[in-house]
Amino acid sequence: MKSSNTVKHPSTVSRTHRELQNGHKAVILWFTGLSGAGKSSLAQAVDERLNMMGYHSFVLDGDNVRHGLCGNLGFSEEDRKENIRRIGEVSKLFLDAGIITLTAFISPFREDRDRVRALVPEGDFIEIHCDASIEVCESRDVKGLYRKARAGEIEDFTGISSPYEAPANPEITVNTGRMPLQYCCDQVIEYMQRNAILPLAQRRAS
Ligand code: ADX
Repeated sequence: MKSSNTVKHPSTVSRTHRELQNGHKAVILWFTGLSGAGKSSLAQAVDERLNMMGYHSFVLDGDNVRHGLCGNLGFSEEDRKENIRRIGEVSKLFLDAGIITLTAFISPFREDRDRVRALVPEGDFIEIHCDASIEVCESRDVKGLYRKARAGEIEDFTGISSPYEAPANPEITVNTGRMPLQYCCDQVIEYMQRNAILPLAQRRAS
């Protein structure tokens, strides 16, 4: 900690008050998986659905955040660790703001994800494994990055020259490799309704 001699100010508007006003709990929906697994597409689809239901949500996405907040970070283990640390801290602030925060980062290291989990109250971190095999992701190769990684033009590429540690016990596993986007989206929304993150009244209305 370099910032010594600082004192925390408690917010005078509590998280609970914001949640009551919003009509839903705030949580972090942490999407993890290989590049091209469909994390961003699924996070966007869930965000759209929540928005249509009148809820307050926001997506933090790897490819976007790396243009700003994390623009000085690369893909070494150290840099990925710092990337996830920053996103964890930002997500924690969003929790206090009463918002359902969706994060779409490869976040390949179990330890880094577990550190974010430990940062927030129990039950607020919902790990969603976007399970798509390297073969499926590579065959999609939407951004042409797998081809470049195979050609040695990109180093430390997840799944090829850098590891991906799948979650051991995620709250949700979605088979984004084989199942349609809307099916996976339903799975996430249903989890949120079952666990009283979203009110059940909305369930009857939807
Ligand atoms: S993370 O590992 O630190 O969580 P993050 O999700 O922010 O990664 O960024 C991943 C995105 O960066 C990929 O979807 C891909 O478009 C791009 N990318 C560029 N270089 C790499 C690399 N070496 N490994 C993985 N993704 C990369």
